[in-house]
Amino acid sequence: MAQAPTPSPQSVINLQGQLLSGADAKVSVYDRSYLYGDSLYEVIRTYAGKLIDSQMDAHMDRLWQSAQLCRLQIHQSRRELAQECQRALEHFQRQPFATEDAYCRLVLSRGVGKIGFGLGNLLTPTQFAIIVQPIESPTPQQFEKGMSLQIVSRFRNHPNALDPAMKSGNYLNNLLAFLESSENGFDDALLCDADGFVTEGTTFNVFYVRRGILCTPPLPVGILDGITRRTLLRLARELGIEIRESYFDRNRLYAADEVFATGTVKEIMPVTRVDHQKIGTGVPGVITRKLRSAFDADIQRLLR
Ligand code: PDD
Repeated sequence: MAQAPTPSPQSVINLQGQLLSGADAKVSVYDRSYLYGDSLYEVIRTYAGKLIDSQMDAHMDRLWQSAQLCRLQIHQSRRELAQECQRALEHFQRQPFATEDAYCRLVLSRGVGKIGFGLGNLLTPTQFAIIVQPIESPTPQQFEKGMSLQIVSRFRNHPNALDPAMKSGNYLNNLLAFLESSENGFDDALLCDADGFVTEGTTFNVFYVRRGILCTPPLPVGILDGITRRTLLRLARELGIEIRESYFDRNRLYAADEVFATGTVKEIMPVTRVDHQKIGTGVPGVITRKLRSAFDADIQRLLR
């Protein structure tokens, strides 16, 4: 069989403590992440070339929460995984293709073992891989244009199925939602639950503003407890913006003055169209811009 091409020649990998190029990093076909999607992951990013301690802590907390939901015992310590992310980042920064800011994906597999669900098949402890590459956050032009989102027919996983609170490596449902929206000419997808309540996007949380009130679905609807979502809620509180975490259906998005998405990579990204409905005047709204500025100022504060 021909060698697979290297998807990201500008990446570096920390595979179980070994620093490698994207082309040289290889994982066993008996790794349970490959066999079953039996893995967890976190996406962290740098600002001004640094991994911010409080953000790293939040990602590690969530990784350990995911592990609990996944009945997975992590064999590495938090400190070790954080240090390995830092080593991978420094290795990236030594490369000719290094950019100031980097995307850092920490993947943790339950391990390598014989085919079969039983933990007795495992031959190794949990295995980690850290991928560091240039980050592709939205440009100012993309921010001004905003995103178009389709509310797809596919439902978000029920919390009693693959709990969305767990950031597992099994993103097939989200990926299929993305493909559905993409086939229909949208930038990305939003998912509802089986009762028609809006949950979140494929890799981001969602907010809307109506008459100055900021609304977002509550965690029990079945979403990831986004770290950017938490930051946004804190900043909105600090700015004195009224907040509602409540269940709502798609009609509330159609009638919104502003809609935006939040996530580590997208940060705060305006949504200017949902299905065939233009949102507000079709440009990023006042509160979205205000929160975006507050977010940037918060990052500057954290860097000091
Ligand atoms: N995605 N919801 C889902 C389903 C996500 O996958 C993510 C993160 C978020 C936002 O979480 P945070 O603000 O902590 O990044 C919400 C990452 C960025 C990804 O999979 O690439």
